[in-house]
Order: sequence, then structure tokens, then C-alpha cells
Amino acid sequence: MQTEYIKVSADDLERDFSILLRAGEIIRNGGLVVFPTETVYGLGGNALDASAAEKIYAAKGRPADNPLIVHINEPQEAEPFAMTTPLYHRIAEAFMPGPITVILSAKENLSRNVTAGLNTVAVRCPSHPVARALIRIAGVPIAAPSANLSGSPSPTDALHVKDDMDGRVHMIIDGGACSCGVESTIVKPEADGTLLLLRPGFITKEMLEETLGVSVTVAPSVLGQLKEGERVLSPGMKYRHYAPKAPLILLDGSAKERQYFLAEQKGRVAYLCYEEEKKALAPLSVALYVIGREGDKEKQAQSLFRVLRDVDKEGYDTIFAPLPDTEGVGMALYNRMIRAAAHHIQHLS
Ligand code: TXA
Ligand code: MG
Repeated sequence: MQTEYIKVSADDLERDFSILLRAGEIIRNGGLVVFPTETVYGLGGNALDASAAEKIYAAKGRPADNPLIVHINEPQEAEPFAMTTPLYHRIAEAFMPGPITVILSAKENLSRNVTAGLNTVAVRCPSHPVARALIRIAGVPIAAPSANLSGSPSPTDALHVKDDMDGRVHMIIDGGACSCGVESTIVKPEADGTLLLLRPGFITKEMLEETLGVSVTVAPSVLGQLKEGERVLSPGMKYRHYAPKAPLILLDGSAKERQYFLAEQKGRVAYLCYEEEKKALAPLSVALYVIGREGDKEKQAQSLFRVLRDVDKEGYDTIFAPLPDTEGVGMALYNRMIRAAAHHIQHLS
């Protein structure tokens, strides 16, 4: 399949209207269009067309047991295919459109190809103007996983999409770099009125609790299953996700401890470093990839997947990175990084 590449500027959608009309038509006719969102690029198909979902799984090389998120423009557009609840509407009021996904009971009419056989459906209203325009123009809800090949980091730039999806989709809409850089926060309303946090993102546990006044439980899989006193977990490949080809190891220690540790490393080594560490580490024979200032977790989240793709191109023996804490957006970073590292943490003290 020949993939068509189109640049669209979020500031001038009027000018690009005819392109979006064509993209909308591709979606309505059962084709696949990659589009930018505020989190990561999405690989979109008509959520009301069971065969479009099959095409999405095939293009990603994704096992068909991993359900898709349905993207809509306004929270009430979930009504035809999902059971909305008062808590859903409160979440929507506070955070939609924006980087949050809510799990709801699916209605009968929604294809179980989209939900991977589950009776629940993931619903999201993205805030990116290009995503919003595309959904509106397509006139149907858009099922879209992240537009990467299964297992590799989510694409935050159209160039990443090209690396993974060239020849696999009908159109790629280039809308520039994604502002969040990590996928949406996923929450599941529970029967007791609390929320289960299934995937952390830019909408943090703290924000959900403060704004909604509900208690939020973090699903155990989010932070891994490190047991008390356990040093390094090395589970099988099934835990590797977003993973670069070289092993990634997370360093748990102070900046000084990381510096001493890195000074002892042999071979071709890369380190994802904080801006503040750059000067002290420059004399070492370690390739440095800055992910942002230590306190600026939003910036680190925005850089992470891009940097993982960059280091991957260079063929290092080992990649190291500081282990983030789990406060605020730190939880999203921690969650993605322990997966990229297959839970490999080196304790330095
Ligand atoms: O930011 C995002 O959410 C991006 C952009 C494109 O919107 N999309 C995205 O999709 O990250 P994907 O398919 O890469 O991740 C969707 C996640 C998967 O972990 C999937 O298991 C989960 O959502 N999910 C989908 N439906 C679910 C459901 N009914 N119950 C529980 N988890 C669900
Ligand atoms: Mg994904």
C-alpha cells in the first residue's frame, strides 16, 4: 500500500480543510489514517466498522486481545455505544477534551473487535485540534491505538510514525510534535464510586483526587511488582514494552552515585540524563541524551519516547537512565520506564 503523507498546521485548519475531508472519507470507507493527538500519534479507523479494527491490529502487528480506545469529539458522543454514568460526566466536565481515557460498559452494538471481546470500552476526547477536526469531519467515532508497531515506543512525531507505519496505512497526517509525549491516563470507574488508575499520564492521580473528590486506587501493574527487599527483577520478554534494542537499566541513587557508577562502565554506553547532570558527566565516555531538567517531569515525559527511539538508532551496548519518583507526572514516567527497562533497576546505595 502506498502511504500518503500530509502536513497539517493546527493553527490554520481552514486552509487544510480539503485534506481533512479526504482523510475523513478514508476513515468512513474503512481505511486507516494516522493522526496527531496531544498525547501520541494515533492509528485511526472507523470504530463502527468491525473490519477496520482488524486492519488496525494487522498494521500494528498487535495481538487481537488488546482493546482499542474509541476517540470522540464531545463526551456525550459516547452515548450510542457506551453506558455513560454520572461519574463519567464529572470526569468529562473536569478533564475533557484532554489526555484522559475512561473505561465504560460497552453497548451491544459496538463491535467486540474494537473491545477485544470485552464488555467494556475505552472512551477518549482528545484536545488536539487536528484530531478533533478529523473526528468531526469523519462523522464517526475513531478507534485508535498508538501508531507504533506493537512493542516499540509510541510515536510522538510524524517521523517516528513513518519509521513504523510506512506502507501499512493509507495516510499519515503530520501535525508536528505531540505536547504530552506519553499516552493518556486511563481510569476505570468502580462499583463503589472510586476510580481504578490503569495507566498514569498527564492527568495525575493527585489531580483526579483533588478535582473529583474521589479516591483513586493505582492498579498493581502500574508500578510493577517489586517486592520488599528485592534488588533486580528480570522477568520474561512479555514485560518488555517501549523497549530499545539494547538493555535499559534504571539507576536508583543520588546524582553523585549515578556519576560514580557511570564512570566505571565499559563499552558503548548511553545515559538519559537530567539537564543539571550534563556538565559533571561530560568528561566520561558515555553518550548523554538530555531528557529535561530534574524537576520538570512534563518535559521529561514529552522527551522520553523520542529519546528512546534516538538511542536505539546508535547501537549501544547498554543504556542507563535515572529511576524517576512516582509523584505527579512522575508516575507516568516511572510506569513507561520500568517497562522499557523490563523492570531492571540497579540500586546504587
Ligand atoms: O493517548 C492515548 O491514549 C493514545 C492516543 C492515540 O489516543 N492511544 C493509545 O492507545 O495509547 P493504545 O491502544 O496504544 O493503548 C490503549 C490502552 C491499552 O493498554 C489497552 O489495553 C487499554 O488502553 N484498554 C483499551 N480498552 C480497554 C478496556 N475496555 N478495558 C481496559 N483497558 C482497555
Ligand atoms: Mg500503545
